[in-house]
Order: sequence, then C-alpha cells, then structure tokens
Amino acid sequence: MSKDNPDNSRRKFLSGSLTLVGGTGAAATLWPFLSSMAPSAKAKASGASVEVDISNLEEGQKIDLIWRKKPVWIVKRTKSMLDSIDTNEGKYKDPMSENIEQQPEFAKNKFRSLKPEILVLEGVCTHLGCNPAYKPDRNNGELGKDWQGGFFCACHGSKFDLAGKVESGSPAGANLKVPPYRFVDENTIIVGELPTNDEKSKG
Ligand code: FES
Repeated sequence: MSKDNPDNSRRKFLSGSLTLVGGTGAAATLWPFLSSMAPSAKAKASGASVEVDISNLEEGQKIDLIWRKKPVWIVKRTKSMLDSIDTNEGKYKDPMSENIEQQPEFAKNKFRSLKPEILVLEGVCTHLGCNPAYKPDRNNGELGKDWQGGFFCACHGSKFDLAGKVESGSPAGANLKVPPYRFVDENTIIVGELPTNDEKSKG
C-alpha cells in the first residue's frame, strides 16, 4: 500500500490486546515488540482498521486482537487442519457460506478466507454472543471422537469447524463472521479493509 493512501491516517497498530495462543490453546503471550504501539481509546472506539504483523505466527497458532470492540482471531491453519474442512450438507447449517451477512464475498469459499492457510474470524458466537474457545485438537475427550478441531462455545454448546462453520444441532444459527480484511504483504494483514481485485486474485 502506498504511503500516501488516505486510509493510513485511520489505521492504527494494535498491541496490548493482541495475544498468541498455541495449538493446545493453553498459552497466551503478549507480543512485546508491539507494546509501544497501542491505539488510543478514541481510535479503538472509532472502528479504525488494525494492521497486524503475522510473521511470528506459527502453524496451528491463533492471534487474538480487538477490532471495533470485538474479538477477532487470526489462525494459521496447518495442512491437516485444512484437510479436516469439508462442506458436508448434513453436518453444517450453512456449508457453502450462503448467508451473505456472515462473510465478505471473497470468503464465500470452502475455507472462508483469502488464503487457505490464514483464517480471520470474529470471535463472537452467533447464538447469544459468547466468545467460543479455540479447540484445534481432534478427537479430544471433551468434544468427542468425531471432533475434527474448531471452536466451541461453552455457553450453550455450539460447535464451529476450523473455518467457523456452525455444526447442525448447535443452538447458534449462523457461521462465525469473517470481518473485512486484506493482505498488505505476505506477513501483514489489515483487519477492517477489503482487498482490491488484484489482491483477491493473488489470494
Ligand atoms: S452463546 Fe454460544 S452457544 Fe449460546
């Protein structure tokens, strides 16, 4: 993105609320190198877009950030995580992401993303707004032998796959939302801005 783009004046780097969560979901660590770039309270409230460096994001990890006062996750999916994603009509309420309110047009695909390996989701359950937990491990004791990894909302038991698709039988009625976002380069994502047509074709 050119430096004279007017959007630059609105964009703020994120820091204090940004965390990395490992594949087990056990550890959360602040990124110290971003700690001096906290957006002002006014900028956060205004819904400024957020620029995120994902160069340190390892396979299976999740970054948590805040955009427009909502939690947003960025997950770097492994090949096996991608292999677990399917569009089985019986298994999901909206397997083909037909509900246009739940994602930008560019994410209406199997992986619900611009690049298959990078998932960006709003971390807000579409039932009553709780924050689902990241449960990437398959067949864990808590969620049963058929669990392929995904997100689990403990409030009322909604299950979402690793693309944020809600499973049939969950109280939540819609897939987790994909916010607008775009890649500035391979390691930089701006949450809150849509990609240009050129950027979409490269994804
Ligand atoms: S708020 Fe998530 S299942 Fe009810």
